[in-house]
Amino acid sequence: MHGACPLTQLARGYALRLDTSPPITVLHTEEGELFEIDDTCTHQDAPLADGRVENREAECPLHASKSSLRTGEVDQPPAKRPVRVREVTVVDGIIMVAESDAAPNLPPGISLVG
Ligand code: FES
Repeated sequence: MHGACPLTQLARGYALRLDTSPPITVLHTEEGELFEIDDTCTHQDAPLADGRVENREAECPLHASKSSLRTGEVDQPPAKRPVRVREVTVVDGIIMVAESDAAPNLPPGISLVG
């Protein structure tokens, strides 16, 4: 795990995109829940951090498929494969990002850097 940012710097209703490979988004819902998902939609190269978050789902800003923040599963095409999700914890006021051994479901043409 590594630290993303202090919890006090991510207000409810906002998302923080981390410049990792692949990018990760930490979301703080209006209800006060925290989630971490891969930022890139599994359909095309669209940043999920820029979409709406509602009912524990992140809506893709490009074609509106919604990914569950808990499981990563998508509700409808055009995205079909689940976005990778991670465990999130807060330790001493710092949002901690968990590593994942699972392969990301990146869209065609997008590859990991480094
Ligand atoms: S890019 Fe996300 S649904 Fe198409």
